[in-house]
Amino acid sequence: MSGIKLRGTGHCAPERIMTNTDMTKIVDTNEEWILSRTGIETRHHVTGERHLDLCVGAAKMALEHAGISPDQIGACVVATLTPDDLVPSAACALQRELGLPGDIPCFDLNAACTGFLFALHTMECLLAASPRKFGLVLGCDVLSRIINWSDRSTCILFGDGAGAAVVEWNESFETIHAQLGCQGDDQILHVGGVGHDRTSVLSMDGQKVFKFAVEAVPRCIDQVLTASDRSIDDVDFFVFHQANARIIDLAVRKYHIPPEKYYKNISEYGNTSAASIPIVLSELYQLGKIGPGSRVLCVGFGGGLTWGGALMEFA
Ligand code: ACO
Repeated sequence: MSGIKLRGTGHCAPERIMTNTDMTKIVDTNEEWILSRTGIETRHHVTGERHLDLCVGAAKMALEHAGISPDQIGACVVATLTPDDLVPSAACALQRELGLPGDIPCFDLNAACTGFLFALHTMECLLAASPRKFGLVLGCDVLSRIINWSDRSTCILFGDGAGAAVVEWNESFETIHAQLGCQGDDQILHVGGVGHDRTSVLSMDGQKVFKFAVEAVPRCIDQVLTASDRSIDDVDFFVFHQANARIIDLAVRKYHIPPEKYYKNISEYGNTSAASIPIVLSELYQLGKIGPGSRVLCVGFGGGLTWGGALMEFA
C-alpha cells in the first residue's frame, strides 16, 4: 500500500469576465441557448495575463494552504495544452518563479481536459521514487487563445483558469486507484500545433463528444469503485469535469447522487479544460464542503479522446 493524499489546493482565474451577452456581440447566438444547452453564464478570459501568471497564482495558494515551502517539493507536473511556450515548459517556468528545487523533475503533460487526472497519477508514481514526499500538480489552460471565434458552437464554451494541488506521498496511504485511458481520434476534437497543421485552432464535434462523455463518465466511476472496492455511498463528494451541466446532471441522476455531494461551477467558469477539476477542488475546500478526511471521486474526459477517474483523500 502506498499513495498520495491532497494537502492543499488553490486556483486562479483572469480578471476579465465574458458574459453570454458579450458572446452575442461576437457570434450569432443568444443567452437562452447558451444557458439551457450548457449551463454557462460567464467565463474568464485573459487580457494581459500569461498562462504562467495563472499557474503562479494557483500554485502559491495551494502551497500556502498546505503549509509547504517550495524547497519541500519533489516534482512538479503541469497539465496543459496551451502553455505560453513549448520550451521552456510551463512547469520549468514555474520552477524558476516559485524557487522549486533544481534537482527535481518539472514537466508539462497534455491529456486535454483529462490532464489533471493523468498528472495526479504521474505524480503518485514520481513521488514513490523521490526523497521529497510532496508534489505540485497543476491544471492550467488558456483556451481563449485557440478558440475559433467564428464557430458559435465552440467559442461560447471555454474559459481560462488554473487549479493546483499539493499532494503528499506516504507508504501508508492508499493509492488513488487512477483509471485512465485514451482512444486516438483527430476528428472529434482537434487542435493543430507545430506539426503538419500549424493553425492551433480548436475544432470539435460537440455532439460526438457529448455522446462519448455520457458513456465514459459512468464507466470511469464504476472502474474506480471496483478498483478501490468501494461503493457510491463510500464517496463523500463527486468532482466532475465541468464541460456541460447536462453531462453532470445525467451522471448524478444515474447514480442518485444527492445535491450535497456534487458541485457545479460551470455557470461562472465555462469549460476550463485541464483546470476544471482542480478549480472545483479548491472552491469546495474554500466553501468547507470538503476537508481533512474527505474522500473525493474525480472524473473527467476530453480531447484525445481521453478519460480518467481517481479517488482522492484529503490528508
Ligand atoms: N447559439 C445558438 N445556436 C447554436 C449555437 C449557439 N452558440 N451553437 C450551435 N447552435 C445551433 C446549431 O447550429 C444547431 O442548429 P440546427 O439544428 O439549426 O442545425 C442547434 O443549435 C443544435 O446544435 P447541437 O450541436 O445539436 O447542440 P447540442 O445540444 O449538442 O449542444 C454543445 C452543443 C453544447 C457543444 C454540446 O454538444 C456539448 O456540450 N458537447 C460536449 C462538449 C465537451 O464536453 N467538450 C469537452 C472536451 S473539450 C477539451 O478537451 C479541450
